[in-house]
Amino acid sequence: MEKIIVNGGNALSGEICISGAKNAAVAIIPAVLLCDGVCRIENVPSISDVNVIIRILYELGASVKVINSTTVEIDPTHIHSHVLSASMASKMRASSYFIGAMLGRFKKARVAPPGGCDFGVRPIDQHIKGFEALGATVTIDGGMVNAHAVELTGSSIYLDKVSVGATVNIMLAAVKARGLTVIENAAREPHIVDLANFLNSMGANIMGAGTDVIKIRGVSELHGTTYSIIPDQIEAGTYMIAAAITGGDLTITNVIPKHLESISAKLIEAGAVVQEYDEAVRVIMRRRPKCCNVLTMPHPGFPTDMQPQMTTLLALCEGVSVMTEGVWDNRFKYVDQLTLMGAKIKVDGKVAIINGVEALSAAPVKATDLRAGAAMVLAGLAAEGTTEIENVEFIDRGYDNIVEKLSAVGADIRRVTYIDPNLGRSAV
Ligand code: EPU
Repeated sequence: MEKIIVNGGNALSGEICISGAKNAAVAIIPAVLLCDGVCRIENVPSISDVNVIIRILYELGASVKVINSTTVEIDPTHIHSHVLSASMASKMRASSYFIGAMLGRFKKARVAPPGGCDFGVRPIDQHIKGFEALGATVTIDGGMVNAHAVELTGSSIYLDKVSVGATVNIMLAAVKARGLTVIENAAREPHIVDLANFLNSMGANIMGAGTDVIKIRGVSELHGTTYSIIPDQIEAGTYMIAAAITGGDLTITNVIPKHLESISAKLIEAGAVVQEYDEAVRVIMRRRPKCCNVLTMPHPGFPTDMQPQMTTLLALCEGVSVMTEGVWDNRFKYVDQLTLMGAKIKVDGKVAIINGVEALSAAPVKATDLRAGAAMVLAGLAAEGTTEIENVEFIDRGYDNIVEKLSAVGADIRRVTYIDPNLGRSAV
C-alpha cells in the first residue's frame, strides 16, 4: 500500500501546469462509443478514473492506442456488447455514462449500478426520467440497470434537480435520437460544455451547453475526430488553495480563468491576491487568511468539489467561517480527520462552522474520498510537523502526479510504500 508523507511549513512558489479535466474526460471517453470512426483525444489526465474508463472501453472491444502520456486513440467500431458488469461499473460514478452511450448506439444497455465517492444517497432517477422521455423502457433487475428502446425520439425533459450526470447521460442518449431533445434546468459545468463541443466535433448538433437549456437535434451518424480536453477546474482550484494555505506564490498555468472565477472570488475575500492572465492565474498570500462564508452550488456557483479544500483553508483563518454544502447530503466526513490535526470545526447537517485556529499540527490521517484526500494534502502542507496520509488511491483517482507537481514548487512531500499492518489478520 502507499501513503503520502508531507513535512509542512514550506511556502510554495513557482509554476504548476494543470492537466486535462477528470470530469470532462470521464464523459468524453464513453461518448466515443457513439461514433463510427477513430477518435484521437488529447490532454487526457493521467489518473486512475480515466485509466478505468479506458480499460472498460478496451474490455468492451474497442481498440485503444496510447500515443503519448496525454494522447489516446480509440476506435470503437468493434464494440458489440451493451453489458457493463459490476466489476467494471462499481469502480466509479461515471460508469453510468455507458447507459446513455450504449442506449444511443445499440438502443439497449445493461449496466451495473455506478460506484464513486460516498456522499450519502446518489440516485439516478433524473437519468432514468430522461431515458424514459426519449422512449426507453428502464427497469432494474438482478442488480443491473436495463434500458432498451425500439427507437429513441427527441423530447422535452425538465430536470427536477440540476444534475451533471443526468445532463451528460441524456445528451449521450439523445445525440442520435430522432428529432429535437430539449433539456431544461440542465447543468452548466465546464465539462458539460466540453462534452457538447466534443460531440459537435463528431458531427452532432447540440446548442446551448453552458446555459440551463440544451437543445440536441439528433443526427444519424457521428464520425471520428481529434479533440483536446479542457484543463481541470478543480485541480487548478486545489493548487490555488495550496498557494494560499502555505503563504506562497504560485502561478497555475494551462487554465481557463473564467472557470475559476468563483474560487478566485473567495480567495480574494480570504485575503489572497489573485492575478488573471490569458491561460494562467497567480495566487499570492502574504497574510493569515480572513474568515469568509461559502455556499457550494452547481456551476457557476462555488464548486462542491472544492468544498473540502476551502474548508481546510478556512480552518486556519482569522475568525469564524460558515461552509454550507448546497449539492450533496453528506460531504463533511473528512472533518474528523482535520479535527485530528487541531482544526475546530462543528458540523450540523449540511453546514460546518469553522473556528479558525492559528496552526494545524501533523497527524496520521486518511483520505475519506478524492477531494477529502486533496484537503488532507493541503492540511499537511500547512501543518507543523510530518503528516502521513493513508488511502492515497482516492487521491490518484483525480490528481495527476500530485506529489511531483507539489515537490517542484517547494513542498516537502513524498509517496512511500508500506505493508498494511492488518494484512493477513483474520476478520473477527
Ligand atoms: N441527483 C438526484 N437525482 C439524480 C442525479 C443527481 O437527486 O438522478 C442529486 C444528487 O444526489 C446530488 C445532486 O443531484 O445531490 C447533484 O448530483 P450530480 O448528478 O450533479 O452529480 P454526479 O453527476 O454524480 C458529478 C461529478 C462530481 C460532482 C458533482 C456535482 C463526475 C464524474 N462527478 O457527479 O464530482 O461532485 O457532479 O458537481 O462528473 C469529484 O470530481 O470529486 C466529484 C465527486
